[in-house]
Amino acid sequence: MSIVIIRQDDKIESWKKAIQSYDATLEVYSYLEPHDKEKVEVALVWKHPRGSLKEYPNLAYLASMGAGVDFIFEDNTAPLAIPITRVVDRQLAIDMSEHVLALILNYLKGLDTYKVNQTKKIWKPTPYKRIADVRVGILGLGVLGTQVAQDLAKVGFTVQGWANTHKELQNIKSYAGKNELNPFLNKSDILVCLLPLTEATTGILNKQLFSQLPKNAYLINVARGGHLVDQDLRDFINNQHISGASLDVYHEEPLPKDHFFWNFDEILMTPHHASVSDTNSVVPQIVENYQRMQAGLPLLNLVSKNKGY
Ligand code: GLV
Repeated sequence: MSIVIIRQDDKIESWKKAIQSYDATLEVYSYLEPHDKEKVEVALVWKHPRGSLKEYPNLAYLASMGAGVDFIFEDNTAPLAIPITRVVDRQLAIDMSEHVLALILNYLKGLDTYKVNQTKKIWKPTPYKRIADVRVGILGLGVLGTQVAQDLAKVGFTVQGWANTHKELQNIKSYAGKNELNPFLNKSDILVCLLPLTEATTGILNKQLFSQLPKNAYLINVARGGHLVDQDLRDFINNQHISGASLDVYHEEPLPKDHFFWNFDEILMTPHHASVSDTNSVVPQIVENYQRMQAGLPLLNLVSKNKGY
């Protein structure tokens, strides 16, 4: 009985080491090393190569190594009938919250512009905004969205959130469903996208949505590139309805060198690094789920196949 890790970056060995130092009895393999595929019961995956899961006929469940599972549903050769779990981790949520706070303060105080001015030796004070001047809208009130909303409210922002269903969160006005999307957008000077990527949310950051935002709104997308219609963002920045955007995620990653985002002064890009699963923080829940599976207990952090997250 064993576990396989399938991901295409250079992190397999550190995950393997972290799992084995947490529980030395576990047999864990990289998908790249020799191992008996019939004996593998659990695949830990992060953007696995499409088709790679077909080689494991006896999987009991699939575990995403991040909060998102969209990449699993995008692989039509993945065994979608077995249970799928995802990471729900306090550290991951805190990291996201710190990243969003940093982006918002950077925007309010115009720090990016000063860095550009510095490279040109331009001394040019520009008006800044205050926390009290802006209303922040969080699109998606899952684990990450809720943490971000609550932390921003604590710092003094006026915060509202939108989700499929109403949420009872202290100091956060809750909007829900299609009918309440526009009223929510109308009051979001800064819009933060933290939705899961599903059929229903693909392309949601488009011109119809942007036209509902107040003039000079600012967009932060830290969810998935698939939420955004890139051309619509370009048009709305060019027509000055949107003042700028911070993007951490893209349709294709790394972003191709010829993409227009690279040269857009109003767009601050980060390389899908807002919040990254920390092995020390996440390994205990991975091991616990493996033990639960062996003991026939319900798994933690199960994904709903209907909802797609
Ligand atoms: C990061 O994008 C994650 O889904 O954890």
